[in-house]
This record gives sequence, C-alpha cells and structure tokens, in this order.
Amino acid sequence: MLSSLKLLPIILLLGGVVACDTGRHSSAGFRLPLDGDVENGKASFVALGCYQCHQVSGVNLPKPAVQAPVMVALGGQVPTEVTDGYLVTSIVNPSYALAPYPRDLITVGGKSRMPDYRDRMTVQQLVDTVAFLQSRYTVVPPARPVYR
Ligand code: HEC
Repeated sequence: MLSSLKLLPIILLLGGVVACDTGRHSSAGFRLPLDGDVENGKASFVALGCYQCHQVSGVNLPKPAVQAPVMVALGGQVPTEVTDGYLVTSIVNPSYALAPYPRDLITVGGKSRMPDYRDRMTVQQLVDTVAFLQSRYTVVPPARPVYR
C-alpha cells in the first residue's frame, strides 16, 4: 500500500492541475463572437501574409515570396475539433504550444518561427481568421477497433 507521504506529490500535482483550470489564466469563459466571417478571414489571411508560411487545405493562396523551411499545413482532417482557443493562442502567442513538426524546422532559438500577431491585426481580423481556419477543418474520428 502507498503511504500518504508517497501520495503527497501526486496530490500536490493534481491540486496544481485543478488550480490552473480555475485560476486567472484558465480558458473558462473564453468565447469568440460566433459571427466571424469566413471570406473576410481568408482576405485577412492573405493581407497579413500568413500564406508565406502556411498552406490551407482546399484553398488557393498566392505563392510565398520566400521559401519557408516547412509549410505548416492548416485545415484538413483532424481527429477531434480544433478549438477557437487553440487557434487564437497559436496566432497571438505562437510559442505557447508548437505544432507537431520537427523543432528545427519550426523554431529559432527555442521559439516559434511565427511572428506573434498581437500588434499586427485587429480583433475583427482575428475573429474572422479563426472562422476561416475553422471552416477548413473536418473532424474524422479515428476508426474504432472492432471487437469480435
Ligand atoms: C514566418 C512564417 C509564419 C507566418 C508569416 C505565419 N505563421 Fe503560423 N506558424 C508558423 C510556424 C513555423 C508554425 C509552427 C510552430 C507553432 O506552432 O508556432 C505556425 C503555426 C501556426 C498555427 C498552429 C498550427 C497547428 O497545427 O498547431 C496556426 C493556427 C497559425 N500558425 C496561423 C497563422 C496565421 C493565421 C498567420 C497570419 C496571421 C500565420 N500563422 C503566419 C509560421 C508562420
């Protein structure tokens, strides 16, 4: 049996997780307006130069001026829904959670190669860009194993 002393770090860890979920940095209560405009979002995506480093599934975009080490793919099939919070965070705080690519292709000095856009776009552009990107993802749940 585990002594309570051995359990202490686990209890502290769980406490920490719960605390993060309810503290001031929690995403609870975060909601983007629901009327983001997909077409305006696409226009912002182009105007802001996002296409220099990104492909978007099913969307024709201008050719990048300079070749990025990797074109990070946005949209397409995903196993679970991509949240608004994930996309907003990716845009205004890109280094917080890095996309699943080899680190040397997507980072410089441990940080995302993506500039943060907090002083480069309006909130409306952010809302519309998220609506545009959301419209390009399709949830395809992983096939469940068949038990016989
Ligand atoms: C100079 C290149 C560059 C530009 C310009 C750029 N990005 Fe990125 N972006 C990246 C890289 C590299 C990553 C992967 C590392 C990371 O997650 O930050 C990324 C990641 C992302 C992700 C997360 C993808 C995932 O699957 O986790 C989103 C969403 C995104 N970018 C949106 C945008 C939008 C919207 C713009 C324009 C407003 C933009 N990016 C402009 C390079 C760029």
